[in-house]
Amino acid sequence: MKTNEQLQTLFEHYLAQTDFPAEPQLLYAPIGYSLAGGGKRLRPMLTLLSYAIFDENVQQALPAAAAIEVFHNFTLLHDDIMDNAAIRRGKPSVYAKWGRNVAILSGDAMLIYAYRLLGMLPAAQVPKVLAAFNEMALEVCEGQQYDMDFEEKQKVSVVEYMHMIELKTSVLLAGAVSIGAMLGGAPDEDCRRLRRFAIELGLAFQLQDDLLDSYGDERLGKAIGGDILEGKKTFLTVTAMSHADETTREELRNLLADNRMAAEQKIASVKAIYDRLDVPHLAEQQIELRFERALAQLDTLSADVVRTAPLREFAIGLLGRNK
Ligand code: IPE
Ligand code: IPE
Ligand code: MG
Ligand code: MG
Ligand code: MG
Repeated sequence: MKTNEQLQTLFEHYLAQTDFPAEPQLLYAPIGYSLAGGGKRLRPMLTLLSYAIFDENVQQALPAAAAIEVFHNFTLLHDDIMDNAAIRRGKPSVYAKWGRNVAILSGDAMLIYAYRLLGMLPAAQVPKVLAAFNEMALEVCEGQQYDMDFEEKQKVSVVEYMHMIELKTSVLLAGAVSIGAMLGGAPDEDCRRLRRFAIELGLAFQLQDDLLDSYGDERLGKAIGGDILEGKKTFLTVTAMSHADETTREELRNLLADNRMAAEQKIASVKAIYDRLDVPHLAEQQIELRFERALAQLDTLSADVVRTAPLREFAIGLLGRNK
């Protein structure tokens, strides 16, 4: 079995093989910029690690792993437009560097490129992988739409929020593991269990992302406080709303809606309310709970623990992430 480091190297080599045309430069340069931009490769690693539980010949899963990573990067190009985000991975986002139109069209081309990669899988595998991929991709769009709807919605419950992040984030991780497992020849029951693992892992991951957006530092590579300034309904906001008394709720609502206050002051005032309500701690508890639930699913797989250990190790490595 390959080490996780070897798997990641294998993936990087595979992804780097594609030479995009030089022209039109404004279509293809942003794609190279995004794909070589320092992403953590979480999703393709999940595909390869899930495949490797059931079969040694992990090369077979590379086109699918790459398709999922390219799809993920496509979502980020469009997400940064929707979220008005100027920084990603410590550098200008494609949207900030080249503008909205370039981010839209290069993003579209990446989605097409993702499908081209799926077409490189063995013909017999394509229909079922495509079906899983399509379902996943549509659900991610549903999640993104809820994310934006919630910006305008006065009251968003924790339950509604969890459903939204399951769609926008977990479903892609679930697609990554189930496609990997499927290609590796996993029994259906193991595919289902791996999906449950990835759903919980994705919830933990997005909760961490929300926490880091307000409480992280420059290692995150995104502008800290971006969610607060955009008026996002994050786990922090919905938890604060559900724990606050009516006066504090009103205070928080007014603050989040205030577009004239200086950015720094707005971020600091919102965080002061979160701190008063112990929200960061509540978020950490929820993150740990979801991680534990994810790992517990791995114990239920039919495969030997030796085979699932690398995936477990990889998931544990995400727990203390700061980027
Ligand atoms: C960012 O995902 C989008 C979220 C679901 C929070 P990642 O944090 O995995 O992004 P990269 O690819 O590593 O930059
Ligand atoms: C990203 O959620 C989910 C998708 C891109 C589908 P976020 O908007 O929280 O991701 P970041 O924080 O910009 O990476
Ligand atoms: Mg977003
Ligand atoms: Mg965003
Ligand atoms: Mg975020």
